[in-house]
Amino acid sequence: MKNLLTLKTWPAGDVDRLLHQAEESASSRTNRLCGDLTVANLFFEPSTRTKSSFEMAQKRLGLASLCLDASASSVQKGESLYDTAKTMEAIGCDALVIRHPERAFYEQLSGLNIPIVNAGDGSGDHPTQSLLDLLTIKQEFGQFKNVHVVIAGDIKHSRVARTNIEILNRLGAHVSLTGPEKWLDDSTGAEQILSMDEAAEQADVLMLTRVQTERHQGEDLYTKADYHRKFGLTLKREKRMKRDAIIMHPAPVNRGAEIAGALVEAERSRIFKQMQNGVHVRKAVLQHVLELENATIDNALV
Ligand code: CP
Repeated sequence: MKNLLTLKTWPAGDVDRLLHQAEESASSRTNRLCGDLTVANLFFEPSTRTKSSFEMAQKRLGLASLCLDASASSVQKGESLYDTAKTMEAIGCDALVIRHPERAFYEQLSGLNIPIVNAGDGSGDHPTQSLLDLLTIKQEFGQFKNVHVVIAGDIKHSRVARTNIEILNRLGAHVSLTGPEKWLDDSTGAEQILSMDEAAEQADVLMLTRVQTERHQGEDLYTKADYHRKFGLTLKREKRMKRDAIIMHPAPVNRGAEIAGALVEAERSRIFKQMQNGVHVRKAVLQHVLELENATIDNALV
């Protein structure tokens, strides 16, 4: 059975194959699959992009979606994640997409007989975000080798940063970090720590991350303006970026903190392109876990 729990266990060749499949998928709006398959989306943490783009990917593939409203489910009566997931399997779901606040939540689901896709586990991993980030970088630079990616901000609490540092290093990119010292995680294996001024000047990809106040447990270090001035991409810093450098951010964006509001849709920003790529990548991931990689039969007229 195929899952997508973390990219750490995925060889580079498999990542490359999935990106190729996502690129193929980008060229067709629909590639509906034969079959009568249902995917359940279980989101125990808020989400706009991941949840909606999984639903869009399911729609484009001709899969049925079952979206559990966790706030109105029996989870509120104390039902465990395992029993909730096992229920989805029992009623006939063919795969589960799960976002959960607990790191490595999937370890408690080894008794399931249907594939699981990790849509974000606490501050652990966010493999589908990472794949869409990789696709965006590949579209821009054609490769990862020697592309200088600077990941900026709240690295310690960011599952996106953690997943990206590991896989980008493995694919040959040059990864540096910048941000408040307290939020830099020295266990990540990034090569270099830069100031935000240096980051703006040296990056090919300036990958901003969100300040994750919900994971700070009351520790408020900076006002928005203070953070922006010290660690954000200001209008002034953007002018110092390399000519072909791009700005990325997984979003949601705190405008005026990580990035000046006017730069979110700047010419060099790929923030909305990342979201578009999210649908292509999630289509490819669903095809992978449901073992439908080669199915591109449009059965809309059948
Ligand atoms: N980037 C991302 O995971 O966004 P959501 O939390 O809105 O899904």
